Amino acid sequence: MVRNTSTSVVTIERFIIEQERRHAGASGTLSGVLSDIALAAKMIANKVRSAGLADVLGSADQENVQGETQQKLDIIANDTIVKAMDHGGRLCAMASEEVEELIPIPDKFRTGPYVLLFDPLDGSSNIDVNVPVGTIFSLVTKTSAGQRGQVSDALQPGTAQVAAGYVIYGSSTMLVYTTGHGVHGFTLDPLLGEFLLSHPDIKIPEHGRYLSVNESYEQHWTPQVRSLIQRYRGLDGKRAAMNVRYVGSMVADFHRNLLGGGVFAYPANAKSPQGKLRLLYECNPLAFVCEQAGGAAIDGRGRILEIQPTALHQRTPIYIGSRADVEIARELLTNG
Ligand code: AHG
Ligand code: MN
Ligand code: MN
Repeated sequence: MVRNTSTSVVTIERFIIEQERRHAGASGTLSGVLSDIALAAKMIANKVRSAGLADVLGSADQENVQGETQQKLDIIANDTIVKAMDHGGRLCAMASEEVEELIPIPDKFRTGPYVLLFDPLDGSSNIDVNVPVGTIFSLVTKTSAGQRGQVSDALQPGTAQVAAGYVIYGSSTMLVYTTGHGVHGFTLDPLLGEFLLSHPDIKIPEHGRYLSVNESYEQHWTPQVRSLIQRYRGLDGKRAAMNVRYVGSMVADFHRNLLGGGVFAYPANAKSPQGKLRLLYECNPLAFVCEQAGGAAIDGRGRILEIQPTALHQRTPIYIGSRADVEIARELLTNG
């Protein structure tokens, strides 16, 4: 049998460099940041893969700034990213879901134009039960004067993002990102240790099959949110029922809906008036990816990407996914 040998294998490094070459004035700095993120992702993937073997399971008996118990892998993932990113001369600061203040670049290292914002390990409460977890990242350009970044540099609306994406540590490890020119997915070849282009130019279906929401908060929802979820589930007879799928790892739920179509919702509720998810580390980056794939992301009224952040760890309700399904949320939540 004659095999087709003409298929070229595209590594993430090659793809990033080729994409950057297409844009005049590109300095290579953004490519460098993305390559460093890919390296950090491989290191975290190794830790996550061996989590059941090594003594890294369970909680570290510390609370993070959100008042949640940190899992050990949260801390390991956070430190892995900081160490992979702090010395390249490409960043002026970082901000992490797991760290209260802005993370400065140490004085001994050069700085660069970008601020990296990240959720080092999303869905970390699932680690003990071997459910997919992820890393989410967002990159904005420094606007303040001086060499070192300031909090104001991190507090930019999502429309200012120059790149964003996530890594999902699932049955395979995938890195999905956008720089505003479509969404591209790479799968880690465990033998080569390379991310290979597997999902070029991802587009989310216009309507979706899946609904991802934690219905155990129903009693705390507003009547509008309740009606919306009933609509999605086909209970008011006005549309076909969506299939409910909720992993409890936003990255995993979002990734499934990105490929299969659907909507992920984390509404505000009486107990959490701003919902749970963080604007800068979770909602903005996934909203950028989703819009670039042809989908939409709103907080119930307006576009997630247009929210002006006022604090590093602020939260927002979110409805994200297929454009037509998110439009239903906008209609029902704004018109009651
Ligand atoms: P993290 O592990 O980074 O704190 O994020 C967990 C988030 C998100 O991944 C998930 O969608 C959500 O928490 C689940 O929350 P509920 O258990 O309240 O549904
Ligand atoms: Mn998270
Ligand atoms: Mn997290």
